[in-house]
Amino acid sequence: MYLHRLVYYSENKIRDLGLPLAKELKAIVLSGQKNNPAAGITGVLAFNDQYFVGVIEGDRRRLSSLLMRIARDKRAANLTVLSAGEIDERRFDDWTSVYAGHSETVDRLYLRFGLTQGLDPGRMSADSLFALLDALSRLEAGQLARHPTSATEHGEVIKVTTVFAGGSQEPRKPLETVAR
Ligand SMILES: Cc1cc2nc3c(=O)[nH]c(=O)nc-3n(C[C@H](O)[C@H](O)[C@H](O)COP(=O)(O)O)c2cc1C
Repeated sequence: MYLHRLVYYSENKIRDLGLPLAKELKAIVLSGQKNNPAAGITGVLAFNDQYFVGVIEGDRRRLSSLLMRIARDKRAANLTVLSAGEIDERRFDDWTSVYAGHSETVDRLYLRFGLTQGLDPGRMSADSLFALLDALSRLEAGQLARHPTSATEHGEVIKVTTVFAGGSQEPRKPLETVAR
């Protein structure tokens, strides 16, 4: 396997398409949980109502094929790759998705990366976005914001981690799933 890493962002078009936000976000997270372990893809996907930002690591052919899928996905637009290249080792042992809203802890993180208005990947370098995603993925579910629409829609997806079982690449039960 040729290990690569890719950092990207895209616009969140779910609302513009007239689709239920929380339900579609949950569906995207479920796709990642189902497919990424089998494909040996680790990393982080963070989202708010405007953007998706992500880092994915794994075999370069599998990363490319996932990137094509995301590029074709109508729920996202203007996919922008900030960096792509070989790595010697993975930074992530699993695949985590987090809601990048506003909470005290998350706002402090944004400030550390020069973001005064919340997540705005258009104003970030690849290194900065990578470091933010790394930090976000390591927060506890309780430190993250709650998604505002979730009370009326299909439950919350605050933080979901798909832990890869050693060797077999079979997904284990998610570590932290906050759902109602
Ligand atoms: C921003 C964004 C990131 C996504 N990330 C992943 C991912 O990491 N893994 C994945 O399998 N699907 C991901 N998806 C969903 C894919 O576009 C696609 O819907 C899905 O892979 C289809 O597979 P399924 O039919 O097996 O669920 C993402 C979609 C978006 C909009």
